[in-house]
Amino acid sequence: MDKSFNASYTDYWADRVKQLSDGTKIADDAIVELFLPLLKLDKNDWLLDMGCSYGRFFPLLSKYSNHVVGIDIEASAIERASEYEYQALAVGALENLPFSDESFDKAFCWATFDCTEQEQALLEANRILKLGGTLLLTGKNIEYPVDDNVAFIAERNAKLKAFPNHFTDIKKLYGLANQFGFEMVEGFAFKYRGDFGLAKALPVDETILNEPFYEYLLILKKVGPHHQLSDLICDTFSRTAKKFGENEGYTDLIEFFKMHQEKHGI
Ligand SMILES: C[S@@+](CC[C@H](N)C(=O)[O-])C[C@H]1O[C@@H](n2cnc3c(N)ncnc32)[C@H](O)[C@@H]1O
Repeated sequence: MDKSFNASYTDYWADRVKQLSDGTKIADDAIVELFLPLLKLDKNDWLLDMGCSYGRFFPLLSKYSNHVVGIDIEASAIERASEYEYQALAVGALENLPFSDESFDKAFCWATFDCTEQEQALLEANRILKLGGTLLLTGKNIEYPVDDNVAFIAERNAKLKAFPNHFTDIKKLYGLANQFGFEMVEGFAFKYRGDFGLAKALPVDETILNEPFYEYLLILKKVGPHHQLSDLICDTFSRTAKKFGENEGYTDLIEFFKMHQEKHGI
């Protein structure tokens, strides 16, 4: 299961968080701090920074918890993160966490869930959390608005660079949270790419769940062990891109993305 990610990705990410590359700003500490209180962190809590990269959020997270542990699949990221005083750091996959059952009070998974095999990553998050423990999770929704061209280009380019990319069927996850041993505490939707960095959050309700939006932030609480999974909750292509491809007569979306890039560039 464990695999290396992309050694150059850590450098790319460290640059990307500093600048606007497609006109959108990556959510920074100020945005994280708006949502972090939802985890109700106590200084004594053991907190897992899932996909910690080079430790971008350690200075912030360590204001709320004395026991922040980081994990990332990329060894070079963990090497850089070791400049910070994490309680422990591990190179490993979120789908196969090298931690004992019920060893964490809280978990923070920011901008990483979309890189993972999401069903397995959720099962692992459930396993390592104590009962009543909470998980803050961000990711991309399976369907974004058809007029979000920036989102489409980002999806196309990620796929053509073979970056792992998963889109969550949020409506399905709301229905299946219990199978993963979680209860949905709170959810926010960010309609367009870039809205997250501007904190343009919409509280998730029945109406939002039935509309397209690009990103989400969820707070899930562990209510028990997970059950047998009946269904998958994610796809490696968005429904929006699939529709665009179909409209152009493509069944192979990679071919569609290649054609689109040749024709439109960017
Ligand atoms: C977009 S970065 C986000 C990093 C950090 N959370 C932040 O917001 O600055 C995604 C991170 O996930 C890591 N990653 C990718 N796939 C992973 C996996 N299966 N398990 C653990 N980490 C993974 C990458 O190495 C990268 O550091």
